[in-house]
Amino acid sequence: MKESPQRNLALDLVRVTEAAALAASRWLGRGDKEQGDQAAVDAMRISFEAVDIDGIVVIGEGEKDKAPMLYNGEQVGSGRGPKMDVAVDPVEGTRLLAQGRPNAISVVALSPRGTMFNPGPCFYMKKLVVPREAKGKVDLNASVKDNLESVAKALGKDVDDLVVFVLDKPRHKGLIEEIRRAGARIQLHTDGDVAGALMAVMPDTGVDVMMGTGGTPEGVLAASAIRIMGGEMLGQLDPQSEEEKRAVLDAGYDLSEILTTQDLIKSDDIFMAATGISGGTFLGGVEFTGKGAKTFSMVLRGKTGTLRYIEAHHSFDKLMKISSINYD
Ligand code: FBP
Repeated sequence: MKESPQRNLALDLVRVTEAAALAASRWLGRGDKEQGDQAAVDAMRISFEAVDIDGIVVIGEGEKDKAPMLYNGEQVGSGRGPKMDVAVDPVEGTRLLAQGRPNAISVVALSPRGTMFNPGPCFYMKKLVVPREAKGKVDLNASVKDNLESVAKALGKDVDDLVVFVLDKPRHKGLIEEIRRAGARIQLHTDGDVAGALMAVMPDTGVDVMMGTGGTPEGVLAASAIRIMGGEMLGQLDPQSEEEKRAVLDAGYDLSEILTTQDLIKSDDIFMAATGISGGTFLGGVEFTGKGAKTFSMVLRGKTGTLRYIEAHHSFDKLMKISSINYD
């Protein structure tokens, strides 16, 4: 008998990221990253109730005592349906949102229970993200120059054709110098390395590679998309303080281990949705139209490799329910 197609949970998830993006977008450029994040968390929490999964947050807003909602270990979803690990970032790029800069997005991923890398106390991870053509041809232990030469060769380009996405952080001073010495060009972004990783694996974004250290949770989220879209993320835990290093070692993590995309997400049965908040390279931001608002999202399903772009028109009646913000 022909198997009937499974439910595409990503189509339910997109309502969750749309709700978060709509709520957060009211805080665009208002200089308050906590309030923007809180609005998104509240909207996301409510809309998750309509998603038929028995979900546990593995990548969330932090520990229970610090985060009132969407904390690591929290159960989300209706409780009916498959047991899933859940990764949420209601606002990826809270500073981008607060400053009205591009590439703040709302993002959620699901994979079967027990398949998502649990970052525990590891806040930071060194990352190298390359497009599918360069998969298997780079090595986190190799020099920046060697990796860039391998990517250039795989893409049929010269090294000086390449553009590398790097977070603009003091810790990357040496990395930036090495990339420039190798001859490649650089896009510096203050925040948002999930967007950076997506740009590296998607065509026509103007970015060929992402390099540098960013959040470990963001690494797991990006790995979900990369596993579906093709390309490769290599990661290595990279604690940025003695305190973090001690916690990571005490929790039994190995700082020398190179984590592949497959280590970060151990299943192909992944669902992911992302909605633009501030607008950027690959997703438009929330646009208010007078009668409502438009959102731009991408929806990915691992089993089939399907990528859908969804433009949604929301009426103000609905918006009132999810983003009533008190401007006093
Ligand atoms: P938030 O949305 O949590 O503020 O994260 C933004 C971000 O830039 C991530 O994209 C990145 O992985 C991480 O912060 C880098 O951390 P830091 O700013 O501490 O270097």
